[in-house]
Amino acid sequence: MNNIRNFCIIAHIDHGKSTLADRLLELTGTVSKREMKDQLLDAMDLERERGITIKLTPVRMDYKLQTTNYILNLIDTPGHVDFTYEVSRSLAACEGAVLLVDATQGVQAQTIANLYLAIEQGIAIIPVVNKIDLPNAEVERTKKEIVRIVGCEEGEILSVSGKTGAGVPKLIEEIIKRVPPPKIKEEEPLRALIFDSQYDEYRGVVAYVRVVGGKLRPGTQIEMLGTGAKAEVLEVGYFKPKFVKSAELATGEIGYIATGMKDIGKLKVGDTIAEKNSGASPLPGYKDIKPMVYAGIFPKDGSEFEELREAMEKLKLNDASLFFEPEHSEALGFGFRTGFLGLLHLEITLERVKREYNIEVIVTSPSVAYEIQKTNGEKIIIKSPQELPDPSLVEKILEPWIKVDIVTPREYLGGIMQLASGKRGVYKNTEYIGNEENGRAILHFELPLAGVITDFYDKLKSASSGYASLNYELCDYREAQIERLDILVSQEPIEALSIIVYKDEAYADGRRIVDKLKDILPRQMFEVKIQAALNYQSDKGGGKIVASSRIPAMRKDVLAKMSGGDVTRKQKLLKKQKEGKKKMASMGKVDIPQEAFTAILKRD
Ligand code: GTP
Repeated sequence: MNNIRNFCIIAHIDHGKSTLADRLLELTGTVSKREMKDQLLDAMDLERERGITIKLTPVRMDYKLQTTNYILNLIDTPGHVDFTYEVSRSLAACEGAVLLVDATQGVQAQTIANLYLAIEQGIAIIPVVNKIDLPNAEVERTKKEIVRIVGCEEGEILSVSGKTGAGVPKLIEEIIKRVPPPKIKEEEPLRALIFDSQYDEYRGVVAYVRVVGGKLRPGTQIEMLGTGAKAEVLEVGYFKPKFVKSAELATGEIGYIATGMKDIGKLKVGDTIAEKNSGASPLPGYKDIKPMVYAGIFPKDGSEFEELREAMEKLKLNDASLFFEPEHSEALGFGFRTGFLGLLHLEITLERVKREYNIEVIVTSPSVAYEIQKTNGEKIIIKSPQELPDPSLVEKILEPWIKVDIVTPREYLGGIMQLASGKRGVYKNTEYIGNEENGRAILHFELPLAGVITDFYDKLKSASSGYASLNYELCDYREAQIERLDILVSQEPIEALSIIVYKDEAYADGRRIVDKLKDILPRQMFEVKIQAALNYQSDKGGGKIVASSRIPAMRKDVLAKMSGGDVTRKQKLLKKQKEGKKKMASMGKVDIPQEAFTAILKRD
């Protein structure tokens, strides 16, 4: 037991976690040269294509230091703010974390956010400067910043290159030295924390566990303390990084168990596995995670609803931060109201539904959740624009606010201040890291979440020439003056395009969306009218139109084949064409391309 080390690598996005993990796999001989490929632990196609880590990935490595054999369990984690939940779960399974900082970028927002998560867990932190091979690496400066945020001695900070492998053997040695071995609790009753899960065609539901006390073996009768589900362990094993069967999983070890369970809903990440009827108490789970944005997801082909449900359930097993509940819409039929940690999370989930489950979906405009206090005293939480009650029934609407930390070089402070105040932000304070001339600042703001999920990140990047980074978390709910803006195409309200807007921005938003749709919607054989209306209700005679526009009809030259100039015949043909178009327009439904749904959210 004394020779097990459980650790994870945490860092800001792109600071090189997966590349460093590759070197560790190589050095420990876990993966042969022949099998090695870049960012090996990013197993999903989507991760490899986009060069980002979405999922945490555990792997077990063997390493001999002097005469002792060690087992090193590494969990590679994602860096993007939308996937923070993956990081917090990895940390709970480990005794140590390698905090990796890119020497050309310095400390960034998620460096700090992930560091705080590790500090909360009370685990050992090994600060490491990465990418020292790059000519523009600023190792000394980066070390100073790390000292500032970690509060360690400069001498404790290691320097490595995940690319060339320089400094990596020393890093392994330090991991063995500084990360404490798991506490031995073999005599205790069996308890294991489920930190991740996935569905496997052959094995059924597979739980990724950290054994905290006791042992897990095939044949062990287990019970999940949270859901109450009972099962027999069919197989246990390690991650190499592929599943490798073993005889048991002992205290302190990280591995998987297969139960053959087919009922996906019975396994919950954060739950505790114990021996059946042992009376063991549950381990502290994870903080319940609340989605930041919601969107409706509907199958394009209504008959695929059950397939979509199965896909969502399987995705949820593999993505504990995903939230969904059934939803019904007049226009779109049966689907799910789905909650995400951010727009990247939404985008990735949609892509996975399409690729892994082959289901085409329609997605409604993303929205944050609002708290509505009604005139009759009732309080409700709404997660879609359609749920917004009639204004006459509403006493007060509260919207979610977030605490935002922005790390930026000092010269961009002015531009970022302006950007945040334009988003109704409230400035809190500034901290400085690094030295006077070329140091950087951490700006603290509070902002309405609704303004940040749309285009804040892109704007921040352009206001800082790409140098600023941000992290945020929910803080509270505050009063907001909002309304629903509905979009009508050919007089038909398009439910999926409705959004919630601030009252004082409704006209500008309406104009912007109508203009954008005019460019996006394909031209039809008939004229298409696009309108933006506030609180449109067909049974109450519509709503207040705030903007409108027209897409002219495509013109087919019906006179082209005519040679001579018989005026009455020409007129007859044109009249026929006009009537035909009218007919088409009255029947004609305009197909709204999916890009319209995302495009209306983006502000130029
Ligand atoms: P996310 O998981 O998406 O947050 O990224 P990551 O932290 O896993 O970063 P990744 O390993 O994907 O590396 C990001 C980029 O930096 C890749 O293009 C790597 O090739 C490059 N990179 C990583 N480490 C080094 C290094 O030590 N030196 C150099 N020159 N490039 C590196």
